[in-house]
Amino acid sequence: MEDIVSLCKRRGFIFPGSDVYGGMAGTWDYGPLGVTLKRKIKQAWWDYFVENRDDIYGIDAAIIMNPRTWVASGHAATFSDPLVECKECHQRFRADKIADVSEKVTPDEFRAAHVKCPNCGKENWDDVKQFNMMFTTHVGSVEDDSSKAYLRPETAQGIFTNYKNVVDTIYPDLPFGLAQQGKAFRNEISPRDFVFRSREFEQMEIEYFVDPTTWEENFEKLHKACYDFLENKMGLPSSMIHDLEVAPEDRAHYSKRTIDVEFDYPIGREELMGIAYRTDFDLGNIQRESGKNMEYRDKNTGETFVPHVIEPSFGVERLVMAVLTSAYTEDDVNGEKRIVLKLPENLAPYRFCVSPLLKNKPELVAKAKEVYKKLREKYTNVTWDDSGNIGKRYRKQDEIGTPKCIVIDFDTLEDNTVTVRDRDTTGQVRVDINML
Ligand code: GAP
Repeated sequence: MEDIVSLCKRRGFIFPGSDVYGGMAGTWDYGPLGVTLKRKIKQAWWDYFVENRDDIYGIDAAIIMNPRTWVASGHAATFSDPLVECKECHQRFRADKIADVSEKVTPDEFRAAHVKCPNCGKENWDDVKQFNMMFTTHVGSVEDDSSKAYLRPETAQGIFTNYKNVVDTIYPDLPFGLAQQGKAFRNEISPRDFVFRSREFEQMEIEYFVDPTTWEENFEKLHKACYDFLENKMGLPSSMIHDLEVAPEDRAHYSKRTIDVEFDYPIGREELMGIAYRTDFDLGNIQRESGKNMEYRDKNTGETFVPHVIEPSFGVERLVMAVLTSAYTEDDVNGEKRIVLKLPENLAPYRFCVSPLLKNKPELVAKAKEVYKKLREKYTNVTWDDSGNIGKRYRKQDEIGTPKCIVIDFDTLEDNTVTVRDRDTTGQVRVDINML
């Protein structure tokens, strides 16, 4: 994990948030390479689930929503983690992360676990309390209870609250899905493990509306689609992805079935994404809270009912971390350690790196610029590198995952061929410029 974090900082993928002021716990900033990787992941998801399907449509809702949203969704009452404070050193912890207890642990259960404070080693705890994780803010110029609002803790509710708008404007046939990507905010008690548990992160969620009698088959189809996406679009090895059927007592308040799809991260096997059967919990609650009818009318039978929902929910940061984890390798080239990010070609921040063998030979630089321009006309994400010697350039491009390096040398001036060097094998071939 430390190697990946260090590579991310050294090469401009991900920096600690507000680094210059000593940081801001639970926040991370993406640098030039990280933002490209993240955008490619998000675009691949959007292409796979929205653009290339006929039954899922995109939306983009506001982050700050009417606070009634969070009453109806149950977040105001139940979106909390168990918090304990050590009476000796006053450090606060998430109870279920320091003791073998569930998220819904009672004070008696926690006491019975006899856990010592990870900070001071004493066993003198205050009672466990449930700590609501939503960030609050105030809307408008008056700061009182009437102006209180929340930063959304999930993108899902922006979809549910627009369900009726979409049905009444584009008349989709059931089953259909609505997809959204965007920021979510959770005041995590202990943000940790790099971007894995952040306070500000991005989600990519689909709410798939179905006839209640068909939820099981739709759950299976979406589960399969998620695996196809993870393995074939994100390049994650199937051996590192695992299903966890979440036990009823551990499921979120809205779910009748949840599968957590876990990944073998360097920190251990942890949740990458989840697929939940949310029943008609959300639309039913919105109907009650707003007084608006959320029923769907079947165009053929005329039957009306509140649709049920299957929700595949991805966290972008956890996907970024999974992609980096499975891509990170170290090998040995001529007795020297080589770090290589074996990113799939569709995700690598740069596709090609073009460079002249020597920076101080104007004829090589001019020819290399010509090749660079030619590739640029056809492709995005081509980079130029003439720093250091060629060995150092290869090491750098290997570390940032550039699949191919193209080098212009003196032979190029004679026969119009260049060296194309492969990141994974380090093998080199001569290729005619016109064949690039
Ligand atoms: N709408 C359902 C929902 O939000 P969740 O399991 O709480 O369910 C879904 O979150 C996904 O969001 C998780 O599987 C994970 O990928 C990501 N996620 C949740 N909390 C996160 C955090 N603090 N930091 C980074 N990603 C997080």
